[in-house]
Amino acid sequence: MTSARAVIVGASGRMGQALVRMACEFPALRITGVVASAGSASLGRDAGVLAGIEPLGVELTSDLPAALAQADVAIDFSQPRATRANIAACRAAGKPLLIGTTGFGAEVSEAELDAAAGDIPLLIAPNTSLGVALLAELVRRAARTLPREFDVEIIEAHHRMKRDAPSGTALALARAAGEGRGIGPAQAVSAASAVRSGQRPQGEIGFAVIRGGDIVGEHTVLFAGPGEELRLSHRAGDRAIFARGALRAAQWLLSQPPGRYGMRDIVHADQSLG
Ligand SMILES: NC(=O)c1ccc[n+]([C@@H]2O[C@H](COP(=O)([O-])OP(=O)(O)OC[C@H]3O[C@@H](n4cnc5c(N)ncnc54)[C@H](OP(=O)(O)O)[C@@H]3O)[C@@H](O)[C@H]2O)c1
Repeated sequence: MTSARAVIVGASGRMGQALVRMACEFPALRITGVVASAGSASLGRDAGVLAGIEPLGVELTSDLPAALAQADVAIDFSQPRATRANIAACRAAGKPLLIGTTGFGAEVSEAELDAAAGDIPLLIAPNTSLGVALLAELVRRAARTLPREFDVEIIEAHHRMKRDAPSGTALALARAAGEGRGIGPAQAVSAASAVRSGQRPQGEIGFAVIRGGDIVGEHTVLFAGPGEELRLSHRAGDRAIFARGALRAAQWLLSQPPGRYGMRDIVHADQSLG
C-alpha cells in the first residue's frame, strides 16, 4: 500500500509532537514534512527525536511551500497568526488542509475560508476528538428536542497555557446548540459572549471558563430546565485523542473534492467508528 504524505505545521508544539508520536498508528499516512515558525529554536531538528520517539528522518523547516511540494495533505496545529499564510500556501499548492489551530477568527474571515474551500478540501476542526464530534451532534439534538425554557450553559476547563477563551470547542458547541434551536451561528456565539448580571435572559447561551494547571480539555453542555437538568460532557485525558482524530480526518480529507468540512462530516461518514 502506498501511503499518503502529510505535512505537520506546528510540529515543534505540544499538538505537533503528539501527531508525530501517533502517526505510527496510521500506516496509510507518512509524515514527509514538519514545519515551525521562521524563528523557531527547533529548526533543523529531527521531528521524531523532538517528539521523544525514534528519528523520523524529517527535519523541522519553516518553508511550508517546499514541504507541500512533497506532500498530499497538510495538518495545521500552529498559531492563529500563521493561519492565513498556511491557507495561501495550501491553495497555491492545491493540497487539502486540516486546520486544528483555534482562535484565528480575528485573522481570517469566513469569506476567505469559503473562497479557499472553493479551491481545496478544507477541514476546520477546533476539536479533532471523535468524542467531541459526537458530543456536538448530541447537543444539536438535545437543543432541538428540549423545550425552549431549558437554559443552555457551556462550561469549559483548560490548562493555564491556553491562549483563547472561550475555547474553540466551546464556541462550536454553542453553534451546535444554536443550530438545534434554529438560531444562526453568529447569534448563538454573540449571545453566549455576553457578560451577564441580573436575571438570566431566556434563549441566551452562556459560557463559564476555567483555566488552570494541566487540564487537557473538559466541556460540559448543561440544559437546565424546570425541575431537571441534562448534562452532556466530554473529558480529554490525553492530547493523543486530538492527534488520532486529526490523522483520521486528514486521511478522510484526501479523497474529498474541494469544499468546506468539519468533524461532523467524519462522524457522519463513518457510520460506525469501530
Ligand atoms: N483542534 C484540536 O483538537 C486542538 C487540540 C489542542 C490544541 N489545539 C490548538 O492547536 C494549536 C496549537 O496548540 P499547541 O498546544 O500545540 O500549541 P504550542 O505548543 O504553542 O505549539 C504551537 C506551535 O506552532 C508553531 N508556530 C508558531 N508560528 C508558526 C508559524 N508561523 N508557522 C509554523 N508554525 C508556527 C510553534 O513553533 P515554534 O515556536 O517552534 O516556531 C509552536 O511549536 C492552538 O491553536 C490550540 O488551541 C487544537
